[in-house]
Amino acid sequence: MYRCRRRSLTGELCSSLRARGPSYAFVKPALYWLFTIVDRMFLEHFQLREPPFSISPDPRFVFLSDRHRDALAHLLYGVGQGSSGGFVQLTGEVGTGKTTLCRLLLEQLPVNTRVALILNPMLSPIELLEAIGKELHIPLRGKQGHQKRLIDALNVYLLQAYAEGLRVVLIIDEAQNLSAEALEQVRLLTNLETNTQKLLQIILLGQPELRDLLARRDLRQLSQRITARFHLTPLDETETQQYLRHRYAVAGGSQFPFAADAIRALFAYSKGIPRLLNIIADRALLAAYVHENHVVDKRLVSLAAKEILPTRNHDKLWRLATWLSAAVLAAAMGFAIQYYFESNANEPGVEHVTHP
Ligand SMILES: Nc1ncnc2c1ncn2[C@@H]1O[C@H](COP(=O)(O)OP(=O)(O)OP(=O)(O)O)[C@@H](O)[C@H]1O
Ligand SMILES: [Mg+2]
Repeated sequence: MYRCRRRSLTGELCSSLRARGPSYAFVKPALYWLFTIVDRMFLEHFQLREPPFSISPDPRFVFLSDRHRDALAHLLYGVGQGSSGGFVQLTGEVGTGKTTLCRLLLEQLPVNTRVALILNPMLSPIELLEAIGKELHIPLRGKQGHQKRLIDALNVYLLQAYAEGLRVVLIIDEAQNLSAEALEQVRLLTNLETNTQKLLQIILLGQPELRDLLARRDLRQLSQRITARFHLTPLDETETQQYLRHRYAVAGGSQFPFAADAIRALFAYSKGIPRLLNIIADRALLAAYVHENHVVDKRLVSLAAKEILPTRNHDKLWRLATWLSAAVLAAAMGFAIQYYFESNANEPGVEHVTHP
């Protein structure tokens, strides 16, 4: 079907047309054609092969900052940790690159590795087992809906894989969405073992809420089995610049268009979070193209950020409201203290001593 290629203006137009129903269907091919031309002109303007700041977790664009390199090392350890058989946990703020690293990991796996990748873990324990079975291509006929049969089938598969020298890895992305019951089911899977070796390596990826979840007392059995933890933090300012340059070069760009003050502004608005960097940088590039500029300056970045980050106005309002409340509170306290002293001074029982 006709897909909106740019998330910005064209994406908004497409979704508003979609909302208007089938009577607008005839406009779609024409729009698609128009957008394709605009896209091509945009890429030609900056002499790019493809858009540099797409928000899909494409491993071709990966920039390995020191922190991303460390995180990847943890994931590789999780895949290869052999007999230790514990969990590996990778957490990080929203949009810092967990899924992208996971995609990169999948490309770097040794050939003797089989992976069950669960991307949407809002599942009951049984649904989770079924999803793992499907990922590993285990025949599930007659077993669906039966916890014991599913676990038995998985056990048979894992023993067979072990006998063939294969390593099986379960990766759960967005693991902060797992229920406590599903997490308990995941823990029980680590009991599938031979006398000497765990049969399944498990990697949990998730937002910071995953750390809170695993700190719960009722999940301490699982928590104790985590043998490696890593928390991915946003990029610093230097890394932000390297990140932008890297992605731009991968997209085929040779003339990096962002001025130094634009990079500083990008860092300030995004706080070094790659997804926000991509969205703002993409919009700023589009604005530069529309104004027939080849350089993106601070002003264009600010315009883009203000358009994309509407919550900043809310932030300002909140800040104003907080200051006003603090001022009102301080004034009220002032009045209260003044009233207290005045009423004490006028009390009949209080003796006033005047020193000569
Ligand atoms: N190291 C990196 N190199 C290149 N691009 C990156 C990197 N890290 C993140 N990105 C880009 O940032 C965007 C968000 O990344 P990703 O989806 O991996 O984040 P996430 O941590 O999984 O977010 P969420 O918490 O929402 O699942 C993607 O466009 C991705 O390509
Ligand atoms: Mg993700």
